[in-house]
Amino acid sequence: MGSRARPVIVVVSVIRLAQAADVDSVAAIEKTSFGDPWPKAAFRRLIGDPLAIFLVGGNSETPVDGYTVAVAVGGEGEVLNVAVSSEARRTGLGGKLLDAVLLELRARGVTVAFLEVRDSNASARGLYESRGFAQVARRRRYYVNPAEDALVMRAALAPLSPDETRSGREKFADL
Ligand SMILES: CC(C)(COP(=O)(O)OP(=O)(O)OC[C@H]1O[C@@H](n2cnc3c(N)ncnc32)[C@H](O)[C@@H]1OP(=O)(O)O)[C@@H](O)C(=O)NCCC(=O)NCCS
Repeated sequence: MGSRARPVIVVVSVIRLAQAADVDSVAAIEKTSFGDPWPKAAFRRLIGDPLAIFLVGGNSETPVDGYTVAVAVGGEGEVLNVAVSSEARRTGLGGKLLDAVLLELRARGVTVAFLEVRDSNASARGLYESRGFAQVARRRRYYVNPAEDALVMRAALAPLSPDETRSGREKFADL
């Protein structure tokens, strides 16, 4: 080895609003992540829906490695979907996507968020618990393919701090 320093490659995750051009990549991740995947048309309908928050995350090499979808109605939010490509899991992207969507829910005045998760989905339950969600109910045989109970999880969301109010939405670009 010579004495010259090796170049350092820094991979920065970028979380941003989804665009129509992202839908094919999102649907491909969805298909490999779930036994009962949403159809492509469901993702297309979310683009431009004022109640929906549809974010994608990736980096300069793979612009769409994961995504999340939530809706905000009144003071309540529901996280409807989060998935990361199998190659990119356990690198922190799922957490960043969830942080970003919760930030946007808070920016829209949401004070409580709900979600459903398969009872056996340990990775997703771990992710949600790491962000303050706790189980509040069980829905028997809610899922199909395979049939399974859903756990309903809830998290209280704090109002944005003055700092977050100033810079919150800009954070999407550098999470
Ligand atoms: C759930 C999912 C989105 C997590 O994404 P990810 O990018 O791997 O998650 P992260 O690397 O950001 O991990 C964040 C936290 O989640 C938890 N977690 C993630 N994977 C886990 C696993 N396999 N086992 C236990 N906890 C796990 C941990 O608390 C982790 O924090 P840590 O790395 O500091 O321990 C991903 O596994 C996935 O796409 N699964 C298939 C789709 C799915 O089930 N979505 C949820 C539907 S309800």
